[in-house]
Amino acid sequence: MARKVDKSATKKRAWTFTEFAKRVGYAPFARQREFHDSRAKYRLFGGAAGPGKTKALLYEAIYQAHLHPGVDTLLMRRTFPELEASLITYFRRDVPREFYEKYNETKHVVTWLNGSTTRFAYCDSESDVYRYQGSEYLFIGVDELTHFTLKQWQFLTSRNRCRIKGSKPCMAGATNPGNIGHAWVKALWVDRAPAPGMDRPDQYDADDYEFIHATIRDNPLFKDDDAYKKTLGQLPEALRRAFLDGEWDVYAGQYFDIFAPSRHTVRAEQVQLDPWTPRWISIDWGFEHPSAVYWHATRADGVVVTYREFVQNRLSPRMLAAAIAERSVDRLGRTERIRDVFLSPDAFAQRTADASIAEQLGDGLAAAGLPRATPADNDRVGGWMLMYQALEADHWLIADHCVRLIENLPTLVRDPANVEDALKCDGDDPADAARYGLKSAPDPGRAPAEVVAAGRVTAVDPTSRAIWMRKFAGEEERRVAPVVPRRWRPRGW
Ligand SMILES: Nc1ncnc2c1ncn2[C@@H]1O[C@H](COP(=O)(O)OP(=O)(O)O)[C@@H](O)[C@H]1O
Ligand SMILES: [Mg+2]
Repeated sequence: MARKVDKSATKKRAWTFTEFAKRVGYAPFARQREFHDSRAKYRLFGGAAGPGKTKALLYEAIYQAHLHPGVDTLLMRRTFPELEASLITYFRRDVPREFYEKYNETKHVVTWLNGSTTRFAYCDSESDVYRYQGSEYLFIGVDELTHFTLKQWQFLTSRNRCRIKGSKPCMAGATNPGNIGHAWVKALWVDRAPAPGMDRPDQYDADDYEFIHATIRDNPLFKDDDAYKKTLGQLPEALRRAFLDGEWDVYAGQYFDIFAPSRHTVRAEQVQLDPWTPRWISIDWGFEHPSAVYWHATRADGVVVTYREFVQNRLSPRMLAAAIAERSVDRLGRTERIRDVFLSPDAFAQRTADASIAEQLGDGLAAAGLPRATPADNDRVGGWMLMYQALEADHWLIADHCVRLIENLPTLVRDPANVEDALKCDGDDPADAARYGLKSAPDPGRAPAEVVAAGRVTAVDPTSRAIWMRKFAGEEERRVAPVVPRRWRPRGW
């Protein structure tokens, strides 16, 4: 459809940013100006609350809409109430009425005098973003980018196009650290590396990304507002560092805020497990999403060690069983003694052909001499709590080659609807699988009978040790009452 273009507003030469800002009555702060001046394809105005990120994003979209007549620009926020309270409010409050042709209240689309548009949009659910499938935008700005998933961002980048010769499609995000998108946003802009789960990591080009780091001190309005700074200063440490200083290594709402790789991980070579140490496996089944598999064992001192990881998608249940069997061998190539295999409960309901995923997987495991899978305990809140307490008490260690799990744990955030739970999000399969492993183990904190028995065996040659072991283990099994030790009990017991 041909669009009405006001020729008088279509000049030979587009405004420079300074000219534009003057006309629209916007006086950017120094850090905002740095953001507007960036030539990067994807820029991020990131950091603390209050430096003027939202306002800068709004004016960037308006400026881009004035670079060429008849182009579309898009501004997004995760939910409509947030969109209305921020971007739309600023637009109505700050942009002079004579600057635009019309504003469509229902569609939330501004038409500028040159026929270009700026659409205010939101996407409540993950898939809402596909509403913009048929459209192309010269500029897309996403406010509070960490409220979005990597998938949504990747989809939006595919809509960032413009047919006009010489135009430069680009996108920008504005955000505080934290929330579900923290990890991927931090990877792309702060660590300058491909994000885990990216479609084509080899195509990541760090030059496309620029991070303009702003803190509360970059907004002169707040700089001298001691009351405001005092309020922020009284926040808990992690929140304060995230909100006041815009630090990306800590953030609000993080579930495992005590997780520290230096304290909770152990070099894989140092995980010395005796052959008789009982081991168990936990699996979060997935096909499009990866299946995540962990191997655990309880050390003689009662510490649970998650010592092996396997994460991969698009494996059939039988292929997954084969992959698990192939890996269930110790350093000397001996088949490990796996006591249990705990599998995500949904795999027992899901069927292909006439057998459930669990049955097919079980057949494969049984054929390799491993136990068939039993349904994992899916008490989410109880499971996360148990993991938290185990980390807190140094009763859970993760071998350092379980990289996906070590990456995943710090990214879990509390669910605002139920703060005891972690928010479900894409890529949390490793954490779910580990949770199944810790929560389903019958009594992970108790040194198993075999291990206690091992302490009593004094013989050194392997054959006599094995004979004595069997004898003592039987005795210990009968002797040790199945009580959950204090340290393993959830708080409040
Ligand atoms: N260049 C500016 N000139 C005047 N006021 C500004 C400017 N930039 C931001 N503000 C005001 O500062 C406050 C915080 O800005 P906002 O964009 O909401 O910050 P953030 O999104 O970083 O939290 C708002 O009241 C906003 O109107
Ligand atoms: Mg904002």
